[in-house]
Amino acid sequence: MGVTMSSTTVSKSRIFSGIQPTGNLHLGNYLGAIRNWVALQDEFESIYCVVDLHAITVPQDPMQLRQSTREVTASLIAAGISTERSILFNQSRVLQHAQLAWTFNCVARLGWLNRMTQFKEKAGKNRENATVGLYSYPTLMAADILAYKATHVPVGEDQKQHLELTRDIAQAFNSAYDVDFFPLPEPQIFGSATRVMSLRNGSSKMSKSDNSEYSRINLTDDKDVITQKIRKAKTDPEPLPSSPEGLKGRAEAQNLVGIYAALADVTVESVLQEYGGRGFGNFKPALAELAVAKLSPIGEKMRLLLESPEDIDHILDEGAARAEAIAAPIVEKVNDIVGFLGHK
Ligand code: TYM
Repeated sequence: MGVTMSSTTVSKSRIFSGIQPTGNLHLGNYLGAIRNWVALQDEFESIYCVVDLHAITVPQDPMQLRQSTREVTASLIAAGISTERSILFNQSRVLQHAQLAWTFNCVARLGWLNRMTQFKEKAGKNRENATVGLYSYPTLMAADILAYKATHVPVGEDQKQHLELTRDIAQAFNSAYDVDFFPLPEPQIFGSATRVMSLRNGSSKMSKSDNSEYSRINLTDDKDVITQKIRKAKTDPEPLPSSPEGLKGRAEAQNLVGIYAALADVTVESVLQEYGGRGFGNFKPALAELAVAKLSPIGEKMRLLLESPEDIDHILDEGAARAEAIAAPIVEKVNDIVGFLGHK
C-alpha cells in the first residue's frame, strides 16, 4: 500500500507510468495500460506522464505535438484518471527527467541497448538514419521512473524489456556508486489484454503507427466507426471454441475474445462458455455493442474537455509543479552521489 506523501512520510509504493502523445490513443493503450492506471490510483500514490520528450525521438510537427499532448491528457482524464488523486503532467516540464537520463546514459552499456527489440522495430531497415534519441529512448524511460523512485510500473507487455533494462540501470547505479539508492521497479502487466493485436492481423500489435485505420479502435471513434471496424475485423471461418485451448493457432479469434473479456471484465473462459459454438456473425455484433458502450462515453467526455484547452493546460501546469516537487530532491541527491559539485 502507498503512504500519502508529506514532508515527513515516505512513500513505500509509488506508481509511475507514461504514454506518448503521438496520434490517437487506441484500445491497446486503454486495455493494456490506462484502465489499470485508473484502477491503481486509489491504492497507490500515482504519477502519470505524457512523454513528449520521447515523442520527438521520431520527427514531430511542433503544432501537432502540442495538440496531441492536450488530446492525450484529455483522454486520460476522460478515461478516469483523477487529477486530484494522481499527478498528471507532460514530461518536458520537469527538467529532472532529461538530467537523470544523461547520468543513466553514462551507466547503461551499449550492449544492453543493442538488445532492445523496440529500437530494432522502430528503426527498421534504415538504422543508420535513426536518431540517437530513439536509440537511447530506454535510458530516458528509466529516468522517468527512477526520478520518482517509483516501485511499480503498470504497462502493456511490449514495455517489459524496457522495464527489465530500468532494473538493470538501477542496479548498476547502486553498485557503481556503492549505494542502496534506487529501488528496482516492478512491471505490472495484468488483465486479459496485455497485448492487444491489430484487427487486420492477429500476429502484429495494435499500434498508432499502423497505416491501416481499420487495424485499431481509437478512443475517439464514434459508435458507427467502432461498429464498422469490428465488422471488418479479420477472422477465420470456424465457430468459436468452448474453451481457451481451442483458440490456439487462431490469433484473430483469440484477440477478439481477449478484447471482449477485458471490456466486460470477465474471464476468457466465461466468454467462451457463452459464445462457444457460435460464429463471428453472432459474436461480432455483441463485441461491437460492448465496445461502443465502454468506449464512446470516453470519446464524448474527451471532446468536451478539449473545448476548454486552457483548463487542460492548467491541469498540466499543476501536475508539473507537483511532479517536480518529488523529482527535484531525488535527482539532486543523485547529482551529489555522482560527485557533481554544489549539490546535496
Ligand atoms: P506507448 O505510448 O507506446 O503506450 C502506452 C501504454 O500502452 C501500452 N500499449 C499496449 N498494451 C496492450 N496492447 C497494445 N497493442 C498496446 N500498445 C500500447 C504500452 O505498453 C504502454 O504501457 N515507452 C512507453 C512510454 C513511457 C513509459 C515511461 C512507460 C515512457 N516512459 C515510463 C512506463 C514508464 C511507450 O512508448 O508507451
